[in-house]
Amino acid sequence: MSATPSLAPALATKRILVCVGSGGVGKTTTAATLALAAARAGRRTLVITIDPARRLANSLGLDRLGHEIRQVDPALVRAGAPRLGGELHAMMLDQKKAFDEVVATHAKDPAAVGRILGNPIYAQISGTLAGAHEYAAMAKLQELDATGAWDLIVIDTPPTAHALDFLDAPEKLTQAIDSPAIEWFRKLQGGSKSGWSVVGRTGSFILKRLSKFVGSQFLDDLGVFFTEFNDVLGGFRQRAAETVALLHQDKVGFVLVASPEPMAVQEALYFHQRLVAARMPFVGFVVNKVHAARPITQGKAELETLIAEAPPVAALGLSGTSIRMATEALVLAHADLEVLASADRMAIASLRAADPNAQLVLVPFQREDVHDVTRLIELGKFLIG
Ligand SMILES: Nc1ncnc2c1ncn2[C@@H]1O[C@H](COP(=O)(O)OP(=O)(O)O)[C@@H](O)[C@H]1O
Ligand SMILES: [Mg+2]
Repeated sequence: MSATPSLAPALATKRILVCVGSGGVGKTTTAATLALAAARAGRRTLVITIDPARRLANSLGLDRLGHEIRQVDPALVRAGAPRLGGELHAMMLDQKKAFDEVVATHAKDPAAVGRILGNPIYAQISGTLAGAHEYAAMAKLQELDATGAWDLIVIDTPPTAHALDFLDAPEKLTQAIDSPAIEWFRKLQGGSKSGWSVVGRTGSFILKRLSKFVGSQFLDDLGVFFTEFNDVLGGFRQRAAETVALLHQDKVGFVLVASPEPMAVQEALYFHQRLVAARMPFVGFVVNKVHAARPITQGKAELETLIAEAPPVAALGLSGTSIRMATEALVLAHADLEVLASADRMAIASLRAADPNAQLVLVPFQREDVHDVTRLIELGKFLIG
C-alpha cells in the first residue's frame, strides 16, 4: 500500500469502533486516543471504557463509581483541534450494573426486576456466568447506538486474558443458560408461579431430601429465581443474535490492538483470522509500545573518535576516563534497545504479512505513562498519520 497507514478514514466514517486485544497491550488507551482524535476532527464521540487506569479516568472526568456518561472538558478536547464542534463524552462501564440493566429490560415487570436482582442465586451466578460481562458490554453498546445520539462510539473491551472471549460471549452465555443443569431445573420447576409445585411426586421427594443438604431456603430461592428468570433468558437469546448481527454491520470497525510481544501478536493474528472468517469488518492493526532505535551504522567511526577524544571536564570534577566510560555505557544501552527494536520489527512484519492491505499503525513506547488529554492527543498523531 502506498499511502501512509492511518485510521483517520475509519474515524471519519465508522459509527462504532471496537478495540480488542489481549490484556495490557493498550486497548483502553487506544480507545480513548481514537475517540479523542475523532472528537477533535469534529465528531460527537462517546468512548466506553471498561477498566481505565485511575489517572486516565480522572483526566477524562470519570470517577470510580460512575456508570454515567460525562462530557470531557471541551476546552481540553478542542485545544488546537483541526475542527471545532466535536465533543468527547466518556463513560466507565460497570459490567455488573450493565448486566443488571439487561436483566431489567427483559423482566416482565418492575416488581420482577426487584425480585430477580434481590435474589441471592442471581447475585451468585450473574458474576460467574460465562460471557456475562462481555455480553453486558455489547448490550450496552447496542442500546447506546440505538439512541442515534452519537456520530461515533468507541468501545474498549474487558480485560480478558483472551481477546476472543469478547467475540464468543453471546454464544457462551446462550450455551451457559441452555446448559443441561439449568434446563433440568427449569423443567423441574416448570415455570410455575409458586416455586416447586409442579415437580411431581418423585421430584418433590428428591427436593425434600435435597433440602436436608442445601437448606430449604436455598431451594426456595432457586425456585423463585427460575420462575422469574425464564422471561429474561428468552430475551437474552434473542438479544444475543441481534448483537452478533450488529457487529457484522459495515458501520462497525474492529481495531486490533497488540504490543510487539509474541503472545499479543499471536492473539491479534487469531482474532484477525476469526474476523475474516466471520466476515466481520476489520479496520486495522495498532501496534502499541513499539521500541524505536536505529542501529548505529552511519557515523560509527565518528562516535568512536568522540569516545576516544572525550575531554576531561575539570569543572564537573570528572576525568576524561569517566566521560569515556559513560559514553560507552550509553552506546551499550543503545545496543540493548536496538535488540528490542529488531524483535519488534519482526513481530510487526508477521502482522503485516497476515494482511498486507490492512492499515497498520505503530505507536512508540512512551517513556511516561499515558494518562492525560495532552498525551492522548500526542499519541493520536501516530494513529491518524
Ligand atoms: N505507547 C505506550 N507507551 C507506554 N505506555 C503505554 C503506552 N500505551 C499504554 N501504556 C500504558 O500501559 C498500561 C496499560 O494500558 P491499557 O490501555 O490500560 O491496556 P489494556 O486496556 O490493554 O489493558 C497503562 O499504564 C498505560 O498508560
Ligand atoms: Mg483495559
